[in-house]
Amino acid sequence: MKKILIVLIVLFANTFLYARQDNRIIRVETDKLGMVFLVREDGIVNYQYFGDKISSDLSVYSARQKNPLLGECPEPGLFPAYGERNVFEPALRLVHADGVLTTGLIYVSDKTVKIDGNISETVIRLKDRIYPISVDIHFKAYKKENIICQHSEIFNEGEKEIAVEKMASAYVPLHSQSCYLTHFSGAWAAEMQLYEEKLTPGIKKIESKKGIRTTQSESPSFLLSLNGPANENYGEVYAGSLAWSGNYQLSFELDECEVLHILGGMNPFASTWHLAQGESVSTPEMVLTYSPAGIGQISRNYHDWCRKYSLQHGDQIRPIVLNSWEGAYFSFNEETITEMIDNAAEMGVEMFVLDDGWFGNKYPRNSDKAGLGDWQPNTTKLPRGINYLAKYAVDKGLKFGIWIEPEMVSPDSELAKKHPEWIVKSGDREILKIRNQWMLDLSNPEVQDFVVKTFDNVMALSPYISYIKWDANRHVTNVGSEYLSADRQTHFWIAYIKGLYSAYGRIRAKYPETMIQLCSSGGGRLDFGALRYHDEFWPSDNTNPLNRVFIQYGTNLFFPAIATASHVSTSPNHQTGMNTPLKFRFDVAMSGRLGMELQPKDIVGNDRVFATKAIETYKKIRPLIQFGDLYRLISPYQEGGWSSLMYVNKDKSQAVFFAYSIRFHERTKFFECRLNGLDPAKKYKVTELNTVATRKYLWINNKIFSGEELIKKGLELDIKACFDSAVLLLTEI
Ligand code: DGJ
Repeated sequence: MKKILIVLIVLFANTFLYARQDNRIIRVETDKLGMVFLVREDGIVNYQYFGDKISSDLSVYSARQKNPLLGECPEPGLFPAYGERNVFEPALRLVHADGVLTTGLIYVSDKTVKIDGNISETVIRLKDRIYPISVDIHFKAYKKENIICQHSEIFNEGEKEIAVEKMASAYVPLHSQSCYLTHFSGAWAAEMQLYEEKLTPGIKKIESKKGIRTTQSESPSFLLSLNGPANENYGEVYAGSLAWSGNYQLSFELDECEVLHILGGMNPFASTWHLAQGESVSTPEMVLTYSPAGIGQISRNYHDWCRKYSLQHGDQIRPIVLNSWEGAYFSFNEETITEMIDNAAEMGVEMFVLDDGWFGNKYPRNSDKAGLGDWQPNTTKLPRGINYLAKYAVDKGLKFGIWIEPEMVSPDSELAKKHPEWIVKSGDREILKIRNQWMLDLSNPEVQDFVVKTFDNVMALSPYISYIKWDANRHVTNVGSEYLSADRQTHFWIAYIKGLYSAYGRIRAKYPETMIQLCSSGGGRLDFGALRYHDEFWPSDNTNPLNRVFIQYGTNLFFPAIATASHVSTSPNHQTGMNTPLKFRFDVAMSGRLGMELQPKDIVGNDRVFATKAIETYKKIRPLIQFGDLYRLISPYQEGGWSSLMYVNKDKSQAVFFAYSIRFHERTKFFECRLNGLDPAKKYKVTELNTVATRKYLWINNKIFSGEELIKKGLELDIKACFDSAVLLLTEI
């Protein structure tokens, strides 16, 4: 009886309180985007709109809830919890202390704070009608970049523990006659392959249960095009990318009212999070954007935002790297490395990175079978240690970087013997190996300390180390933690990634200048969650330029060229066995952050001359590539067998254009492409770059065209043969 009375009082108080909200409208806005929410009289907050910013009054929205036509199609809420009238996938699902499974959220308050001239943050606080929990929905709006980052946080204000079974970062409802989802899938050496499909009624889910890698199979980044497949330059497109390196779930549920309910966040799979009295838990950010004019603008929004807010040193030019992996693998000694450095220096390379294989003594790292965890230089291979090599590189005018994989341990290592309690394991079950290695349990603060210490110790090997390649070559299997208590085992997934981010954060605070590359067997961990602590990422172990055209196409839809390590390797390619011309390999690699991944002494004769010149050329054009706006001109997924892209600087006075012939073209076929992205009012002189002695300059070399002609009529180029390519510099005259 007493309980019923309390419930009635709470309901009455809520009704009284929210009646005064009087259809309050809450707007979250950037220069071009707008989100609109409506606080209804009964306290429910409706999600009214997300899209092109509406500058006028929004009275129509507050009247909408009274529209009788909508009777069958309830207005979507701001953050639909499981309970009350919600029958769709919930954004929030809780088990309250008394076992009640439902939640009913109503408005408490909202506040918008200006963080600086470009960023403002709106927090809408909701609470359960009855139970003592609150939920804050955060929106960080980046004005100029037109990005809105959304996340949520839940507070247990009661005395007893509750269980959070699911909590999304963001919910977005869209109403459209048809929705086309672009998502990504792949595998090792085939990351970010693009799939586009028309959504049909029901639920499409994209998710990962691999724990610590997000992008080698599926990806937490997506595009959503309304009323037709996504186009580069027109059509309404929404995009989201979850800034999280752990398990995630995206769901797209199309209902009978043609409303698409989009949810994204951490994967609820086996992840119950217990919240004790006074505790709270927050979700990662979903990075959202929208374009009324195609996916080109979506990418440019992400790139601008990423360079400024989600990448280390996003305003600094990246050096040209030689990485030792494909040139030496595990078989090297001092001489191998110094010879590589000599050759790299001769060719104009600016950074040498010593990859895997340099450490371990009792269990030397001479293959992937041993040594992970024992981060001491191998004295047989490198008797004078790392400092000798690092100084050697610096004396030759190069910077020096080194590879680590601090989250992992080999069964054959001193670390595994010393700290078996640090290894991820499922009780007494066999600890399964992947690439012959086990994982350390980063939910354990001691292991986080070890990871930070590993970084410290490696940095202490030489004052000349200025770059770290951070690798992670496996995912979670047979999950479990000796550190977490029996009733907290489901916390592992979230606790690991929060532990990893805490370690990254401590490292970043201590080494703000060090460049760090994000790598996970190639592009296994490519998400904005991890990227914000890094300077760049390794998109794939596949260095074959043909495959890279596709991998980088998908990757660069979200992530900018400045961070896309793109290395020229040898031919035939080690992953695919494919033969390609050196020019094609450079032309593809130069569309990202150029590097090399080979034995440089093997580049001889004309190839050596070409490579040295191409490196010199890249130094001149890299500001365009690394800071410019990306315009994709021809997608490799189109039928023609060409691919083309262009980077244009912000004032459109210079551009660099890339074109690739990715299959054989019959004599009757020719390359033609419109150069959207230039200024129609300007005139541009075209200069062909990366020319080879065996081919004449293309006819457009040294010619002048109006921007308008290049945009409307475009360029025809004689690049027909398989793996023919062209790089053009366009300069305003
Ligand atoms: C996987 C990375 O993607 C490669 O580049 C290389 O660093 C190897 N690991 C080394 O084991």
